[in-house]
Order: sequence, then C-alpha cells, then structure tokens
Amino acid sequence: MNKTYRYLLGCCVAGSLMLTSCNNQNAKSDQTMSTTEENSGTLPRDVHSYSKPTEAVTKHLDLDIAVDFEQKIISGTATYQIENLAKTDEIILDARDLQIEKVFLGDERTETTFKLGEAKEPFGQPLSIAIKPETKSITIQYSTSPEAAALQWLNPQQTAGKQYPFLFTQSQAILARTWIPIQDSPGIRITYSAKVKVPKELLAVMSAENPQQKNATGEYKFFMRQPIPSYLMALSAGDLVFRPIGEKTGIYAEPATIDAAAYEFAEMDKMLVAAEKLYGRYRWDRYDLLVLPPSFPFGGMENPRLTFVTPTVLAKDRSLTSLIAHELAHSWSGNLVTNATWNDFWLNEGFTVYFEQRIMEELYGKEYADMLQVLGYQDLQHTLDDIGRDSEDTRLKLDLEGRDPDEGLTDIAYEKGNFFLKNIEAAVGRERFDAFLNKYFKTFAFQTTDTDRFLNFLKSELIRGDEQLEEKININGWVYSPGLPENHYKPSSSRFANVEQAYTSWSQGTPAAQLQTQDWSSHEWLHFIRLLPEQMPQQQMAALDKAFNFTNSGNSEILAAWFLHTIRNNYTAADQALDNFLTHVGRRKFLVPIYKALAATPAGKRKAAAIYAKARPNYHAVSTSTLDEMLK
Ligand code: BES
Ligand code: ZN
Repeated sequence: MNKTYRYLLGCCVAGSLMLTSCNNQNAKSDQTMSTTEENSGTLPRDVHSYSKPTEAVTKHLDLDIAVDFEQKIISGTATYQIENLAKTDEIILDARDLQIEKVFLGDERTETTFKLGEAKEPFGQPLSIAIKPETKSITIQYSTSPEAAALQWLNPQQTAGKQYPFLFTQSQAILARTWIPIQDSPGIRITYSAKVKVPKELLAVMSAENPQQKNATGEYKFFMRQPIPSYLMALSAGDLVFRPIGEKTGIYAEPATIDAAAYEFAEMDKMLVAAEKLYGRYRWDRYDLLVLPPSFPFGGMENPRLTFVTPTVLAKDRSLTSLIAHELAHSWSGNLVTNATWNDFWLNEGFTVYFEQRIMEELYGKEYADMLQVLGYQDLQHTLDDIGRDSEDTRLKLDLEGRDPDEGLTDIAYEKGNFFLKNIEAAVGRERFDAFLNKYFKTFAFQTTDTDRFLNFLKSELIRGDEQLEEKININGWVYSPGLPENHYKPSSSRFANVEQAYTSWSQGTPAAQLQTQDWSSHEWLHFIRLLPEQMPQQQMAALDKAFNFTNSGNSEILAAWFLHTIRNNYTAADQALDNFLTHVGRRKFLVPIYKALAATPAGKRKAAAIYAKARPNYHAVSTSTLDEMLK
C-alpha cells in the first residue's frame, strides 16, 4: 500500500431538547432545507458505507451517552428519527468495533431484532435493524471498544495541565461508525441533540451549541440544529476553559494553553468577517476553536461550530494561522456544501484551500497569499513526483472503491483542486468567479454535491456555451486526467524572490549570518529550508544552525522541514530535538515524512524503531495505522 499523505512539501424534531434556537428564525429555514433535499436520483452511491439511504434514511439523532475514562468506553443510546422511504423491513447503519446490546422501535421502545454483518477492515459491519413500514424511530443501545479508532483517550501526562485525562474524537473520513452506530456517509445529513455524562472535573464540548463553563454534575446537553453529515460528529472532554474573542467567536483550551491560544488566534473574528464578505453569511451561528493536546493527528478538523486544532500552530507570532482560515472556510466548502462521497473529496478540500487563501489575502494582502500558494504548488509537485504523474490517483475525481478513503487524502485534492479553481478564476476574472462561487454556496447550502453536479453548475452558470472559455478551463485535463495540464496557472511570489536571492548568495559563499533575513516570516524560512541542497557537509549544517537556530525553533513547520535535512545529513546535534519532537507531536503530516526520512538507511531505521516504540502511545490511531504500515 503506497500512501502519500499531504506533507512537505427543524428544529427540535425529537422534542426532548426544546432549546432557545427554536426561536431563531434561521432555524426554520435551515431545517426546511434538510427535509426538502433528497439524497436520491442523480448522486452516486457511496461505496464506503453499508447504508441504503434511498430506502430508509436517518434524519435526526438523540444521543444519550456516558464517557468512562477508566474503561475507555463510551456507552448509551442513539435514537434516530428515520424516514422509511421504500417502506422496507430493514434500515442499515454502519458499525465498527461497536458492541450492540439491544435495539428498540418507536417511542414505546419495543425491542426489535438486528443483525451485524461480516466485518471488513476498515469499513466495519453493516448493522441491519428490523423495522416496519410505519416505523418513525429506532433506539440503539450500544458501547464502544477501547480500541475505537475515532477516539483518543489521553492520560493526564499527555495533556498540557498534566492533571486530568482528555478525550477527543476524529470522525472524518469513516471513523464516526467506531463511536456511534450511524449511517456513515457524507451524503446523509442529520440534526442532533446529545446528553453526555463526563467526570465532574471535565467540560464536554461537541460540534454543536456548547456550554462555556463546567457545571457541578458533569452532565452536558447539546443541540445541533443545522443538519450535518456523520463525519462532522465530534466530541471532546477535558479540563477546558473558554475565552471569548469576538461576539460570535471564542476559544476552548486547557488553562495552561488558553493565553497562548488567545494571542495566536486573536484574528479569528476578522477572518470570519472576511469570509462572510467573500462568500456570504456564516450559517452556523457561532465559530469557536478547541485547542487539543499535541497528539491530535491533524492540523485542524472543521467540526461545525467548533474547529478542532493542533497546538503545533501556537508559534507565538501568528504565523501559522492560515490553518484557522482553512478550517473556517470549510464552514462553506464542505460543511455547507458537502462532497457526496470520498471520491469527490477535492470538492471539500480544493475549494477550501482556494477560499483559505482568499481569506488570508483579505487580511494580509496579496503578497502574503502568494507565498501560501507557492508553498502549496511545491507540495503539489512533490506529491505528483511521489505518486507518479500518470497515476490514476492524481485525477481530481477519484475511484477509491474497496480502499480506505484515507488514501485519497493527498495534496491532489487540496492543491490540484485549488489550482484548478485558480485556473478558472484566471480565465473568467475574479469578479465573475466570486459571483459564481457565491451562487454555488447558496444554491447547494446544506446539500450534497459531486463532481458532476459541480461541473454542470459550472457549465450552466459560467461557461454558458462559450467554447473558447470551455477550452481554457479544460475540465477534462484537470478533473479526469492524471498529472497537471500543460498550460496551467503557475503561482509566483515576490517575497520568495528575495529568499531565492539570499539563497543564491549563500550558495555562492556568503556566510549565513550575513544574509538579509530580518523581515522573514515562517513562510520565507520554510521556502529557504526547502531550497537547501539534499547533501550538506556537517560544517555547513552547523553554520546554518548557528546563524538561524533552526534546531531550537519554536515553529513546528520550520522544525519539521529542518529535521529532514538533519536526518539526511546525519547532523546529530539535532537528535535530541528530533527525539523530543517525535515523542510529543502526533500530527501525521509531520510524522510521516520524518519517519520516512529516518527509515531510508539501516541505522536510521533502528533509530526510528527506538523512537517509535517510545512515542507510539502518544499517537492517535489515525497516525499509528499509517506508521505501523510504514515502519514494519
Ligand atoms: N478535513 C481536513 C482533515 C481531514 C481530512 C481529516 C480527511 C480526515 C480525513 C482538514 O480540514 C484539513 O485539511 N486539515 C489540514 C490542515 C489544512 C490547513 C490543510 C491538516 O490537518 O493538515
Ligand atoms: Zn480541509
């Protein structure tokens, strides 16, 4: 298996929780949208879910669960309001590593029969539940396994405060089924309520309306009135405090981290304003962040209303906040207009990278956004080299049938997707493209879209029979062909031109300390480090390190890029820092290239094995499943 992850380079349906949002005018329209939308007809079947939503589909979930840190188990009930569209005698959900105890039908909770089909990794099992044509609700009594892949249970030592345990979920792409029996397909949207019991010392938060402080009982209630796909179901519990940033924005973090986080993300409110100005009203009421412990396997996860974020972006200089712009942008591209299946993942991520860079441009100007674009372009080139430019997996429209959708999580979706959109923007002009995107988000809000649906919209709204334009946009080249079309838009950055100049003068003998680097941001540094030759003598490494202190950088992006050189060149002065980084940070994007670089030589492989043995308990299943495979 050759995985190349992106690196481097209606309110109140159930009635039980009639919360204030029911009075909100928006609530009604959002709910209406969910019920009028049909997941039928033109959209493709999701090959990564056992559910058959055209026959019987879930509409609303009431979750009632308890979180047991001793046993590392979540248990309770999931009650669904369903629509039995085909009047069938079964409804099928996805389940993986779940213990299903009992299943009931209706408000009266009459017990019914169920069957768990054959388990297939990583998809789990179909859970088919016997229903009647008139069945309106089902209740599943269940518990999770301590190995549930979506859940990471941290002991106090693995947190910033070192006093309390911590739990977080990661449901994307198909891990929601490891903590909730659910129709786990991005084309199926549900609203939800939840009652969650956690140890009294902890605060629980979800991808929903959230409490802002702990209560004495440890029991929390949640309501999510906007319909969301299963991969956005999220829960976390820990010693958390809340700090407001703007009126609609704020941050949850451990007390030890909250000040640093509030400084780092002080501009999140401005980002929200910029995003609304670009692509229309924010549809999710509040936008908060949850800063997780360092073992979080991703940079960020766009859980609605509450983005989960790695603490590795706390660089103390706000230099890595484009990640927040990215997750915020998902509130439109992904959460509001959602890819129908994981084969259309580029619709989520490519649009989001494009949108993220537009937000950054609004806040910090074009020169800043240009740097992000060039770095993204480098990532794309690197990924193309890695996967192979003629590999089918470099098409935007993927075919992941029978494979883990995680394998589609490459820079193709992100960066090739972004450059396809950039290419359209260049062809029609920004004004027209923005109007088009606005209309796209409005038209498909709270709905599902796939590549065909998007392309049809593109043809009817923008191309409109203009053959020259159609040729310029080159849909076939971008979407259905591998590699990159020959005449593609290539980004450039004036700020990077300075870096390249400095680099040239360094490579011609100017001592590192004499280079003009005073105004460099971490992006310029990253560009510089990426430019460095693969092979460098010890003395040259040491001189660079002495001048720029890379080994002790507080910036995770700089560290991760630098370590690739220290490993290749056996620059042992960085060994301690490397060891420390790998045992603390669980972000897969950093771990994979670093371990890969280590594993390239026999001695490095031994080093990698020793560090991995020690560090593995700190990593989330998402990271270990990749690394186990790589290091075996
Ligand atoms: N939604 C993704 C993370 C993801 C994708 C998790 C697929 C599981 C399966 C998130 O929005 C993301 O793209 N995160 C990036 C950061 C971003 C700035 C590119 C990451 O974690 O590196
Ligand atoms: Zn994303």
